[in-house]
Amino acid sequence: MRIPIVAGNWKMNTTIESAVGLVQEMKGELDKIPGIEKVLCPPFVSLSTVGNLIKGTSIELGAQNMYFEMEGAYTGEISPPMLKNLCQYIIIGHSERRIFFGETNEMVNKKLKAALKIGLIPILCVGENLKEKEAGKTEAVITNQVSAAMQEIASLQKTVIAYEPLWAIGSGKAASATQANTVLNLIRNIITKLYDEQTAQSIRLQYGGSVNSNNIGEFVEMPDIDGVLVGGASLKAAEFLSIVEQTSKIKQAK
Ligand code: 13P
Repeated sequence: MRIPIVAGNWKMNTTIESAVGLVQEMKGELDKIPGIEKVLCPPFVSLSTVGNLIKGTSIELGAQNMYFEMEGAYTGEISPPMLKNLCQYIIIGHSERRIFFGETNEMVNKKLKAALKIGLIPILCVGENLKEKEAGKTEAVITNQVSAAMQEIASLQKTVIAYEPLWAIGSGKAASATQANTVLNLIRNIITKLYDEQTAQSIRLQYGGSVNSNNIGEFVEMPDIDGVLVGGASLKAAEFLSIVEQTSKIKQAK
């Protein structure tokens, strides 16, 4: 049995003050939703504050990025040990990191290794862009991103993988549930080849890209979709709560 997992990636939104407001608005209800992991990923500056607010609840915390070196002269960067006692999850290789900050597959691989070494649970993001999709290259791109990220990693531990097609992020044009499930099923097959069947069956896979309270049901009805990574809709308490509630209900009924 895979425990469903919904994470809210707040991206570069909220100040410390508005982050506090958002958490206060939803934490009571969110805490009560059973049978599902709920992860909030605020910006770095709010991690500590949000962490204190959710202490003693069932809500977990994640960071949106980190550097792969453990310490040193890397002005402006955040290291794995800095996050280790602050949060449980770490988003790695988000497409916005790859596009705007030049993150390569090699860097993603180093970050994944660093997260596993320090004991943070990675949420590894992969996804093809529109051009690649239209050229029929989705399978090749995903296979390449997943295998490159996992180079020389003996055990994935609790790693989560999120399929986030770039054309679906922030566009209001989500993938269809079938499209998303097909790619996540492909990822499970890649994991079987790279590791083994047991790892592939136990690894948790998410879909991300324009998920909201209206379309969540279709996604989490799918057998290979264990949860979602939510951007815009995670900044609205009622929306995020509804997404988590629906996921919990649908997965519990299965
Ligand atoms: P949106 O939900 O805003 O499309 O963003 C998805 C995403 O990139 C989550 O990491």
